[in-house]
Amino acid sequence: MKILKRNKVFKVLTIILSLGLMFTIMGCTNAEDTNNDPITGTGMSFELPELGYAYDSLEPFIDAETMEIHYSKHFEGYKNNLNIALAKHPEFNKPLEAMLADLSLVPKDIRTAVQNHGGGYFNHALYFSILKINDGQTPNGELGAAISIYFGSFEEFKEAFSTAAASHFGSGWVWLIVTDNGLKIVSTANQDTPLDQGIPILNIDIWEHAYYLNYQNRRAEYITSFFSVINWDKVEELYLATK
Ligand SMILES: [Fe+2]
Repeated sequence: MKILKRNKVFKVLTIILSLGLMFTIMGCTNAEDTNNDPITGTGMSFELPELGYAYDSLEPFIDAETMEIHYSKHFEGYKNNLNIALAKHPEFNKPLEAMLADLSLVPKDIRTAVQNHGGGYFNHALYFSILKINDGQTPNGELGAAISIYFGSFEEFKEAFSTAAASHFGSGWVWLIVTDNGLKIVSTANQDTPLDQGIPILNIDIWEHAYYLNYQNRRAEYITSFFSVINWDKVEELYLATK
C-alpha cells in the first residue's frame, strides 16, 4: 500500500492479532532465531492466535461446530501451508502485510501459496478477532460518526455491506477498510486481501465453510446473523488505530 502509512498498518495488525497472547503475524517463532524484529526477522513461522472465546459463544448465530472446524481446521490449514511455503525461503523476511499488499515482493515459486494461504491466514485472523455477540449494539463514537459520514447512516452501511456480501460470486470476503478517502466497502475473491487498497477493520467470510453446516445455501441468513456477532468495540479500536 503506497498511500497509507505503513506504521498505521502495523499498529492495526498488531491489535488484530493481540486477541490471543501468542500472535506472530510478523514475528519469528523459531526459538533458535534471536532476531525478532518484525521488519527484519528471518525464519518466519506463524502460529494461530488464541481464539479468546468458546466455540459455542456465538450461538445461535454461528454454531459451535462451524466455529470449531473453521478455526481448528481451515484457519490451521492456511497457517500450516503458509509456513510450509515460507520454509522454502528462510532468507526471505518481509512482514506478511507487506507481502500481501505487494505480492511481487514474494519469491515467484511461493507467490501463489503466500497469496492463498498467507491471505487465508490474515483474513481469518481479522475475522475471528472481531466476533462477539453484540446484543444489538451498533457502532458509536468516532467509528459510528465516520460510518454516518461515508454511508449516510448505520442502516445504510449495513445494507450496502450485506448487499456486497450477498451478491459476491463464489468464495471470498467483504470488507470495511480505511483509505485516505475515508471508509469504503470492498470485496475480494478467494483469500485475496484489500491491503493494497487500505487498512481493513472488519470483514465477513463468505466462503461456504463459514456457514454451510447451519445455513446450508442460505447465505443471506448468515449475513443477517453476522451483524449480531460483530464486536463493534474491537472494530472501533482498529479504526482508531488508523488515525
Ligand atoms: Fe473461512
